[in-house]
Amino acid sequence: MSQIMMIGRNSFLLLTALMALAGCGTPNDKAFDSDAGKHLSDWVYAKHAAASQEDINSCMECHGSDLAGGMSGVSCSQCHLNGSPLTLTGCTSCHGKPPTGTVAPNRSGAHAVHNAFSGVTNVCDTCHSGAGTTTAKHFNGTTEILFLGSYNSSGGAAVRNTNGTCSNVSCHGGQTTPAWLTGTINVDTQCTLCHAFGTAEYNSYSSGAHLLHTNMGFSCAACHSATILAVNHFTTLNTPTLNGFVADTIASSGINSYDPSGNKSCVATCHAANPKNWL
Ligand code: HEC
Ligand code: HEC
Ligand code: HEC
Ligand code: HEC
Ligand code: HEC
Ligand code: HEC
Repeated sequence: MSQIMMIGRNSFLLLTALMALAGCGTPNDKAFDSDAGKHLSDWVYAKHAAASQEDINSCMECHGSDLAGGMSGVSCSQCHLNGSPLTLTGCTSCHGKPPTGTVAPNRSGAHAVHNAFSGVTNVCDTCHSGAGTTTAKHFNGTTEILFLGSYNSSGGAAVRNTNGTCSNVSCHGGQTTPAWLTGTINVDTQCTLCHAFGTAEYNSYSSGAHLLHTNMGFSCAACHSATILAVNHFTTLNTPTLNGFVADTIASSGINSYDPSGNKSCVATCHAANPKNWL
C-alpha cells in the first residue's frame, strides 16, 4: 500500500515538474510546496475551504474535474464523507447542522429533540463549547462534549459520561440523563426524570402540599397542565432560576379555581366543599 502511494507521489512530482516546464498553470506556491509534492500543512487546515470556494477550478487541476482524486490521488470525499463539497456545501458535506443521520459523524441522537424543546436551537456551543468548525478540536477524531458553564447543575459541572449519558446538566435537574443515541424522555409524563423533590437543584419542587398529593398517587399533570406548561417550559434554560410562570400552570379539569396570592388557595373537585390552602 505505502509503496503504491510512493509510486503515485513520484509520478505526481514528475507531472508537476513537466507541467512547470511546459508552462502549464503551476500551483500557487503559497499553498503548494512543489518540491515536497504537498500542500503547506497550515494552509490545509486553515485555508483550503476558502481557497476552494474562491476558485474550485484551481483544485480540479490536480484533484480531478469530479474532485474524486485526479492525479493528486486525494479525493475530497475522503474527508467530506457525504460527498463532494461542491454539491453538498457547508457542514452537510460531512454532517448535518445539527446531525440528522444514522452513520458517524452524522448520527442524530438527541439533537433534534433538543432543538425542538430547549431554545438552544442551532447553538452548538451549548454542548460543544469551543469545539465546532474552525477550532482545533473540530475534526480531530473525538467528539468533544464541553458544556457552557451556565448549564452546570447546582451539584457540579455538567459532563458527558462514557456510557453516553450526561450528568449534572441543569436542564435535567442535575440527574443522570438517558443515553444520547438511544434514550428518550416523555416530557409530558416523566417529570421526575428532571424534577426531584426537595433537593438543592434549581428546578426542584418542595412547596406546600406536594408530598401529600404525590403520595396519594396524583400525577404532576393532575395540577400542572402539560399544555400550558409547554408554553414557557424550556424557554430560558441558561439561567438557574425557574423563569416560567409556575402559578399559570396550575390548571386542570379537577381544579375549579386557584389563587396564587397569599397562602395560595385552591378549590378542587376533591375538596370542593372545603377549599384548602397550598401553603
Ligand atoms: C498542484 C496540484 C494540486 C492542486 C492545484 C491542489 N492540490 Fe490539494 N493535494 C495535492 C496533492 C498532491 C495532495 C496530497 C499531498 C498532500 O497531502 O498535500 C493534496 C492533498 C489535499 C488535501 C488533503 C491534505 C491532507 O493533509 O490530507 C486537501 C484538503 C487538498 N488537497 C485541498 C485542495 C484544494 C481545496 C485545492 C484548491 C484550492 C487544492 N487542493 C489544489 C495536489 C494539489
Ligand atoms: C484531510 C481532510 C480533508 C480533505 C481531503 C478535504 N477537506 Fe475540505 N474540509 C475539511 C475540514 C476538517 C473542514 C472543516 C474545517 C472547519 O471549518 O473546521 C473542511 C471544510 C471545507 C469546506 C467548507 C465547508 C464549510 O462548512 O464552510 C469546503 C468548501 C471544502 N472543505 C472543500 C474541499 C475540497 C474542494 C476538497 C478537495 C479538493 C476538500 N475540501 C478536501 C477536511 C478536508
Ligand atoms: C444538547 C447538547 C448538544 C447540542 C446543543 C449539540 N450537540 Fe452535537 N452532540 C451532543 C452529544 C451528547 C453528542 C454525542 C457525543 C458522543 O457520545 O459521542 C453529539 C455528537 C455530535 C456529532 C458527532 C455525531 C456522530 O455521529 O458521532 C456532531 C457532528 C455534532 N454533535 C454536531 C453538532 C452541531 C453541528 C450542533 C449545533 C447545530 C450540535 N452538535 C449541537 C450534544 C449536543
Ligand atoms: C470535512 C468534514 C466536516 C465538515 C465540512 C464539518 N464537520 Fe463538523 N465534524 C466533522 C467530524 C468528522 C466530526 C466528529 C468528531 C471530530 O472528529 O471532531 C465533527 C464534529 C463536529 C462538532 C462536534 C464537536 C467536536 O468535538 O468536533 C461540531 C459542533 C461540528 N462538527 C460543527 C460543524 C459545523 C457547524 C460545520 C459547518 C460550518 C461543520 N462542523 C463542518 C467533520 C466535518
Ligand atoms: C395537587 C396539585 C399538585 C401536584 C400533584 C403537583 N404540583 Fe407542583 N405545584 C403545585 C402548586 C399549587 C404549586 C405552587 C404554584 C405557585 O407558586 O403558585 C406548585 C409548584 C411547583 C413547582 C415550583 C417550585 C415549588 O416547589 O413551588 C415545581 C417545579 C413543581 N410544582 C413541579 C411538580 C412536579 C414535578 C410534580 C409531580 C412530581 C408536581 N409539581 C405535582 C401543585 C401541584
Ligand atoms: C427534560 C427535563 C424536564 C422534564 C422532563 C420536565 N421538566 Fe419541568 N422544568 C425543567 C427545567 C430545567 C425547568 C426550569 C426552566 C426554566 O426556568 O427556564 C422546568 C420548569 C418547570 C416549572 C416552572 C414553570 C416553567 O414553565 O418554567 C414547572 C411547574 C415544571 N417544570 C413542571 C414540570 C412538570 C409537571 C413536568 C411533567 C409534566 C415537567 N416539568 C417535565 C425540566 C424538566
